[in-house]
Amino acid sequence: MVATIISCKAGGGDYTNPALPISQRVSNLMSQMTLEEKVAQMCQYVGLDHMKTAEKDMSLEDMKKSHAQGFYPDLHSSDVEEMTKKGMISSFLHVVTAEEANYLQSLAMQSRLKIPLLIGIDAIHGNGLYCGSTIYPTPIGQASSFDPALVKQLSRETAIEMRASGMHWTFTPNVEVARDARWGRVGETFGEDPYLVGLMGAATVAGFQTDDFTGEDKVIACVKHLVGGSQPENGINGAPAELSERTLKEVFFPPFKDCVDAGAFTVMTAHNELNGIPCHGSKYLMTDLLRDQWSFDGFVVSDWMDIERMHDYHTTVETLKDAYRISVDAGMGMHMHGPEFYEAILECIKEGSIKEKQIDEAVSKILEAKFRLGLFENPYVDMEKKDIIVANSRHQKTALEAARKSIVLLKNENNLLPLDAAKYKKVFVTGHNADNQSILGDWALEQPEENVTTVLEGLKAANPETAYSFLDLGWNVRELKTEQIKEAVQRARTSDLAILVVGENSMRYHWTEKTCGENSDRYELTLPGRQQELVEAVAATGVPTIVILVNGRPLSTEWIAENMPCLIEAWEPGMAGGQAIAEILYGKVNPSGKLPITIPRSVGQIRCMYNHKSTNNWFPYATGNSKPLYEFGYGLSYTTYQYANLQLSEAETTTTGNVQATIEVTNTGEMDGEEIVQLYIRDEYSSATRPVKELKAFERVSLKSGESKRITFTVTPEMLSYYDAEMKYGVEKGTFKIMVGPSSKDEDLQTVVLTVK
Ligand code: BGC
Repeated sequence: MVATIISCKAGGGDYTNPALPISQRVSNLMSQMTLEEKVAQMCQYVGLDHMKTAEKDMSLEDMKKSHAQGFYPDLHSSDVEEMTKKGMISSFLHVVTAEEANYLQSLAMQSRLKIPLLIGIDAIHGNGLYCGSTIYPTPIGQASSFDPALVKQLSRETAIEMRASGMHWTFTPNVEVARDARWGRVGETFGEDPYLVGLMGAATVAGFQTDDFTGEDKVIACVKHLVGGSQPENGINGAPAELSERTLKEVFFPPFKDCVDAGAFTVMTAHNELNGIPCHGSKYLMTDLLRDQWSFDGFVVSDWMDIERMHDYHTTVETLKDAYRISVDAGMGMHMHGPEFYEAILECIKEGSIKEKQIDEAVSKILEAKFRLGLFENPYVDMEKKDIIVANSRHQKTALEAARKSIVLLKNENNLLPLDAAKYKKVFVTGHNADNQSILGDWALEQPEENVTTVLEGLKAANPETAYSFLDLGWNVRELKTEQIKEAVQRARTSDLAILVVGENSMRYHWTEKTCGENSDRYELTLPGRQQELVEAVAATGVPTIVILVNGRPLSTEWIAENMPCLIEAWEPGMAGGQAIAEILYGKVNPSGKLPITIPRSVGQIRCMYNHKSTNNWFPYATGNSKPLYEFGYGLSYTTYQYANLQLSEAETTTTGNVQATIEVTNTGEMDGEEIVQLYIRDEYSSATRPVKELKAFERVSLKSGESKRITFTVTPEMLSYYDAEMKYGVEKGTFKIMVGPSSKDEDLQTVVLTVK
C-alpha cells in the first residue's frame, strides 16, 4: 500500500529503488517529507556515547539545567535515541565506534521514511578519533612531503577505513593558509603557501571522494574553515580576521576554490568574524562566493556552536532564533550541533522569514549525499570486514612512507648524521616526546600501544646492538623537575651521544595540559615548560647532542639552531613516526621533506612568511637577526644536489603564451635521494604590489648518486596573473623573474628573466 502511494508522488518511482537516477530518488523522497522531516535533515547531534560520558558525571537534573561539556540542557541521550527513531536527526558526529554507528542506524531505520544517518568525524590524518585506525602524519607534515599523490593515497585509505567503521563524512581538509604560528591549529593545515595548500587540499578531496563519491567505500570531504581563522588577531582561535579584499582573493580564497573545483561536497564556515561579519551569518561567503561565483554544488555545515556564537559572542543578533534564521538565509545547510535550531527554523518557515525553497535546496543536497554514498541500500557496517580493513598492512606502509617523506632535516653540522652505530654505542635518549603517543598529533585519541612506534622503540628496532639509556620524563611538556634535569645530565655524561625528543603536545585527551592543537594558542614560540633548560644542560656536558622536534606549529628554537650540531623537524609524524625518525638518524632513509612554512626566530617576527611584500623587511630590526630561522621550502639531505643551467624556451612571451623553464639537477653526493625542485616567480614591476616571490610549481625528483635530470616546468599565463590596481585579474606586461632551486632562499635560487610583451 505504501509503495503505491510512493509511486504516485512527485519525481515518480520509489526512492527506495536503487535502479532510479539519484535526482529522481531525491525528489521522490522529498515529495513525501513533511516540513518537520525536512528541517530534521539539517540537524546534527553528538553521538550517544559522547553524551553518556557527560551523563555519568551529571544527574539528569543537572544536565537539564546546564550546558556543561557542550551538551544539550534539556535533552538526555535517551531522548536523542527517541528522536532518531522518529526521524528527527539527520547526522551525528563524535560517534567513534562501529557498534554505535550501527546502533544509531538501526534506530534511524525505525523512522517513518527510514532515512539513514550521515555520520561525520574529523579524520584529518587517518581516522584518528577511532581506536585502532591508521594514523598518518598531520597535514603540516603531509605538506612537507611536497607529494600530492601521496596525500591523495593516504586520504583514499582513510576513506576506506572510515566506511569500514561506519563513518561517511570527514571534516577535512583544513585549507586555511597558516600565517600565524601562535595559532594552535597550524598543524592541521598545509602551511603558508596558497598554491601548496590548494594542491594538497584538492588532493585530499580527491582521495576521500574520488572523481565521483557515489559508492560504498567513498566519503564526502568538508573544506574548512571559510575563512580567515588562520590569521587571527593575537593568534587566538576564533578571534577576528581583518583581511582586505586583495588578501582574501590572493591568499585565502584560492585554496578553497581549488577544493571546490576538485568537487568537495561540503564546506564548513569559520568560528571567526571576517571584517566585522561572523562567517556563520555571511551571505557573501556562503551564497555569493561559494554558490554564485564558484558554482559550489554541495551543502554548508556550521562549526561547533558557531551559529549560537552570533548571539552569545559576536552579539550581532539579540536572539538565537535570529542567529539561526540569518545563517540559514545566508546559505547554511546543516547545523552542528544541538536541538534549538530545529524549532527556530520551523517557526521561521511558518512565519515566512525563511522560504521552504531555501530549506529544500539544503535538504536535497544532504539526501543526495546519503543516496550517493549507498546508505539507503545499506547503512550498516560489517563488523568482521572492518577488522580486516582498519589499519591493514598496506595502509600502515603508506603511513610509514608518509612519515619518512614528511620529516625535515634542519641542521647537520660536520655530517654527524647519519649516525655511525659503531661509534655511538651508548646513546642517551630523553625528552617528553621520546616514548609516547604525542607523535600522533591532534585529532587522534589514544591508540593501542602495539599500533604506534615511538621514537625510542624505533631506535631500538633500528639498532638492537646499541645500548640506549632512556630517561622517562612523562608526557606533560609543561612539567619538568630540577632532579630530572640533573639526572639527564648525569646520564648524558656517561654516554657517547644524546638524543633529545622535545617539542609540544597536541594530545586532545589531555585537553587542559596540551600546548598545541585546537584551542591551544600561545603568545611565545619557545619550547614549552623547562625543555630549553634541559637541552642546554645536556649540551653543556659536551656530549654530541641531536635535537628532534615533535610539534604541530613552528617553534622558535634559535639557540638550538645556533648551538646544537643537529636539528630535525619531525612535526607529528603519526603511528610509524618513531620508525621513520630512527631510519633517518641511522641513514636507512635519506631525509627529503621541506618546510611548508617559515620558522621565525622569535614570535615578534610574526607575520613571518616567505611570500611577503618587499617593504616587509624595509629596515632590519634594531636588535637581533631579522631573517627567519628557517625559510619556506628549506630542508637538508644526506646527499648534495647541484642546480645548473636554468633556461627558458623563449625569453619573451605574450599574455597568453606558455614558456618552458628547464634546469639540470645533479645528485653530487654519495647517497641516492629525492629532491624537491621548486619554481618561484616575481613580477618585477606591477601596478599593485606583489610578493617578493611566489611558489608556482615544484617536482619531487628521485636521483641516484651521480645522476642528473633535466626538469622542465611550464610557465603559464595563470602563474603570472594577479589582481591589478583596479582588481582586474590577468597578466600585466613587463618582466618577471623566474627562479628555480631547492628552497625559497635567495641564495638557493637560479634566476632568469621572462618578458611579457
Ligand atoms: C572544530 C572543527 C571540527 C568540529 C567537529 C570544531 O571545534 O573547529 O574543525 O570539525 O569541532 O569536531
